[in-house]
Amino acid sequence: MSNEGAKTVVRLRDRIGESASRFLGQWGVFFRGFIDEPRMVGSIIPSSRFTIASMLAPVDWSRCDLFVEYGPGVGTFCLPVLEKMKGNARLIAIDTNPLYVDYLNRTIADSRFTAVLGSAEDVEEIVHLAGHEHADYILSGLPFSTLPGGVGEEIMAATHRILRPGGAFMAYQFTAAVRDLMRTRFNRIDSGFEFWNVLPCKLFWGWKD
Ligand SMILES: C[S@@+](CC[C@H](N)C(=O)[O-])C[C@H]1O[C@@H](n2cnc3c(N)ncnc32)[C@H](O)[C@@H]1O
Repeated sequence: MSNEGAKTVVRLRDRIGESASRFLGQWGVFFRGFIDEPRMVGSIIPSSRFTIASMLAPVDWSRCDLFVEYGPGVGTFCLPVLEKMKGNARLIAIDTNPLYVDYLNRTIADSRFTAVLGSAEDVEEIVHLAGHEHADYILSGLPFSTLPGGVGEEIMAATHRILRPGGAFMAYQFTAAVRDLMRTRFNRIDSGFEFWNVLPCKLFWGWKD
């Protein structure tokens, strides 16, 4: 093999190694978070790329100035959202787990992105502190069926207030618990199903009138 050929093989191997360790590193952080707080995390594996694509499909990116994500975990959705977002839009990710928030702020170097340590119940304060009146889209990976009593209702009320008219609350879950909560606030709810996810999950989009 020529010198140049050998260098290419080494570069390729290094790149595969880097991606593999990044990949395992992310899963490792996610799993550690699950071990610490199983009821708050609700899953041992991040969402699949099929769930990401299905969930984000209805978003009108040209009308998105502020995208908020609840429960980003290790950021499964963050990079796909940043890839699609306008150059001057912002993504705020809110999570109660300091391990995840620290990981996200260390690993996502994009000036449009901020991870905030807090609860989704406080979304209004977090959005206003960031200098915005409303959120255009809010995505949730929260395990609504295992959240402490009353928290789901608080989150849904605050979510509906902070969304702009025409904006959407988008949620995926293994059960339909979130849809029952959404019905208390949203008149129009679209639904879907993603088989290619561990476990297969239900998808919901609640549109604010
Ligand atoms: C199933 S994980 C979702 C991970 C990721 N979004 C994905 O799809 O792979 C649920 C996440 O919700 C977070 N969480 C739980 N309760 C929360 C709350 N009240 N506010 C914000 N995040 C919360 C957990 O810390 C965890 O990161």
